[in-house]
Amino acid sequence: MNNELRLILAIQKNGRLADDSRVLLERCGIDLLKSKDQLVCKAQNFPLDVYFVRVNDIPTFVAAKVCHIGILGQNVLLDKQINSSNSQLDSIEAIMKLGFGRCRLSIAVPNSHDYQGLSDLQGKRIASSYRGILSQYLGKRGVSAEIVSMQGAVEIAPRMGMAEAICDLVSTGSTLAVNGLKEVEIVLESQSILIRNDTLNSVQEELLDRLMLRLNGLQAAKTRKYIMLHCPINKLEAIKAILPGSESPTILALQGLENLVAVHAVCDEGVFWNTMEDLKANGASSITVLPIEKMLD
Ligand code: PRP
Repeated sequence: MNNELRLILAIQKNGRLADDSRVLLERCGIDLLKSKDQLVCKAQNFPLDVYFVRVNDIPTFVAAKVCHIGILGQNVLLDKQINSSNSQLDSIEAIMKLGFGRCRLSIAVPNSHDYQGLSDLQGKRIASSYRGILSQYLGKRGVSAEIVSMQGAVEIAPRMGMAEAICDLVSTGSTLAVNGLKEVEIVLESQSILIRNDTLNSVQEELLDRLMLRLNGLQAAKTRKYIMLHCPINKLEAIKAILPGSESPTILALQGLENLVAVHAVCDEGVFWNTMEDLKANGASSITVLPIEKMLD
């Protein structure tokens, strides 16, 4: 098949973003038939090739035009851009936040350390896999510390006497806790993003637009709810005013019930129990709130 007519995406093969990246493609209606060790896969029902690679290589592949787009954490892209002399990396554009893989890049010290502030780290050793981001962060704050580069299992460094502090990703915080460490500074808030380079032809641009439309549809659906209720006609305006973020609900007649109407609406904001209680107090009944799977505006 002609590669000019296909879009090439790089995602993480194994690791914290791998499963969610695949699930996201599935939710976009893209079928990937892939065996466990397969590194390249052609989507069955969308002109998309997916490369399964190490997350640290994704910026390089996208910058080198081997792939057009990629899914990775903001932390990985930023660290690569700061560390590398490859100016092509600067041409990578982050085009969408994807909302999963949320974490913090944080500095942590042993629980026994009576931490007073960044000046405590002056002249100390900090173990990290994120040399670029950390050195920029410390430099901007006038802290001079030695960065001990590690590829993983950074939390072990203080216990081994290799460093007085660490700088690593924190999600639930349980890895820090089991290693007797406490989070003292947040260096960066991060989540997954979609990135692209500037080499797409018009067909590939169109495919990326289609993919982003689906991604936007999923994100819109995530925050919205479909609400259905019955309401007395004379209470309609009060009920409409309570419905969160819905300006034009659908009003339907109810057979055999002349004083009541059914109100259906997509609500932009969360529908909480107190919203439902408000609706009920204003005369609504049979209030049903449903999740929305996908939306195209
Ligand atoms: C990351 C990070 C921490 C852990 C934090 O490791 O390096 O070790 O997750 O998560 P928590 O706050 O939920 O405990 P990851 O599993 O991504 O593997 P890595 O060691 O290869 O970085």
